Amino acid sequence: MPSGQVIVVTGASTGFGRLIAETAARKGYRAYATMRNVRGKNAGNASELDDIAKRESLSLRAVELDVTNDASVQSAVEEIVREAGRIDVVVNNAGYGLMGVTEAVTLEQAQRIMDTNFFGAVRMNRAVLPHMRRQKSGLLVHISSGGGRVVVPSMGFYCASKWALEALAEEYRYELVGQGIDSVIVQPGAYPTAVFNNIERAADSSRTNTYGAVSGLADHVLKLLGGAKGDPQEIADVVLKTIETPIGQRKLRQRIGSGVNGIVELNELSERVQKQVLEGFGMSEIAKYAAG
Ligand SMILES: NC(=O)c1ccc[n+]([C@@H]2O[C@H](COP(=O)([O-])OP(=O)(O)OC[C@H]3O[C@@H](n4cnc5c(N)ncnc54)[C@H](OP(=O)(O)O)[C@@H]3O)[C@@H](O)[C@H]2O)c1
Repeated sequence: MPSGQVIVVTGASTGFGRLIAETAARKGYRAYATMRNVRGKNAGNASELDDIAKRESLSLRAVELDVTNDASVQSAVEEIVREAGRIDVVVNNAGYGLMGVTEAVTLEQAQRIMDTNFFGAVRMNRAVLPHMRRQKSGLLVHISSGGGRVVVPSMGFYCASKWALEALAEEYRYELVGQGIDSVIVQPGAYPTAVFNNIERAADSSRTNTYGAVSGLADHVLKLLGGAKGDPQEIADVVLKTIETPIGQRKLRQRIGSGVNGIVELNELSERVQKQVLEGFGMSEIAKYAAG
């Protein structure tokens, strides 16, 4: 993909999202680092990006976008298209973790995590796809997790949100490839970002009294994950490499970082089974895009 093209990243105030936006801008992309509360709690993060953009003469700008809010997503996408004329890449990165006994997660908590980690990408993709279809090109990147493939103890709803995200990302790929639009999944292992400071806990502790050791799993798992040592820049580099890989040659899923190696095996197995599913429905033409 030639530089000067337009990339929009959600949840770019910190962590992977911010690194992806900065890395893309340094490679010559017109990068929109979207975040919620640009004038509130993220004002400092937004002005840091402005400073970097000025200092390094980059096309990098913070735009207000809360992925849980239809109007916010729509108005951010309209603003970007008005300014840049097109959108070439969307990185659905915004997300957070929720830990604890699954029964102790309230319905409100369960709905809220799905609204961010899953419906956030649905909103974004619905907002940008008319522009990408008009352009007959585009790329949807979905930042999933190892927990998008396996169940991490005490993280039932987080995993459910990422499994849902992966199913949808894969379906988009098959439906959109004929129009020059690609959809891919990146599955990071544990990396030391703000994600572990922002973990929400299951709120209804009245449900946990018969669970014994199970109710202590969240603390145990968080201690292990929170000690992660990888460099989050690895994720930004993989995303940029993926953007620069031509459509038709991109892997559907990429597992990056430490953790359960078996996820790569699961991806390979699922690729084979998925090809059979598509061929079984007479869709041999798109079965080759199950690759990866
Ligand atoms: N770090 C890891 O070990 C790891 C592993 C696997 C997957 N992931 C995934 O990677 C993605 C990025 O996480 P990270 O590790 O970089 O952690 P992070 O630094 O906490 O970044 C998460 C970002 O999502 C944003 N966000 C949350 N709710 C939002 C909303 N409603 N609208 C817009 N933005 C929202 C946060 O914004 P605020 O600043 O406004 O809260 C923050 O910028 C997440 O989807 C996470 O699940 C992370």
